[in-house]
Amino acid sequence: MYVIKTAIIGVLASAGFSLSVYAGDSDAETFYKETCIVCHGEGMHGAPKPGIKSDWEERLGYGIEDVYLNAIEGMGNAMPARGMCTDCSDEQIESIVDFMVKDLK
Ligand code: HEC
Repeated sequence: MYVIKTAIIGVLASAGFSLSVYAGDSDAETFYKETCIVCHGEGMHGAPKPGIKSDWEERLGYGIEDVYLNAIEGMGNAMPARGMCTDCSDEQIESIVDFMVKDLK
């Protein structure tokens, strides 16, 4: 199923439609790996790493809504708006953030 969906998205994307299909966690992880991992994978410039509790505790202390907003609007020069995923909808960014902060250890 996932493969078929990806193929359809590929056709739509090459036909000039923007990517706006959202189908839960697996998509979030794919998007994370395509865009955010460049900085967040290694914690470049202090980017919080997915699943690492100490990287997220203080940020989440302000509430998840603020964290979503910072991801969408960007933070200073280090975190670009939408993490450079200009095609991502707010909903997609939020689902990627959910993926990054789940199972914190
Ligand atoms: C060019 C590097 C870069 C990319 C690409 C990037 N980030 Fe970031 N991100 C950062 C840095 C650096 C910070 C820490 C900024 C700070 O604390 O001032 C950050 C912080 C964040 C935060 C914490 C917000 C908060 O309230 O503290 C979230 C959430 C986030 N990024 C999500 C994402 C998502 C989702 C993507 C991919 C769509 C992404 N980032 C791509 C560099 C990046």
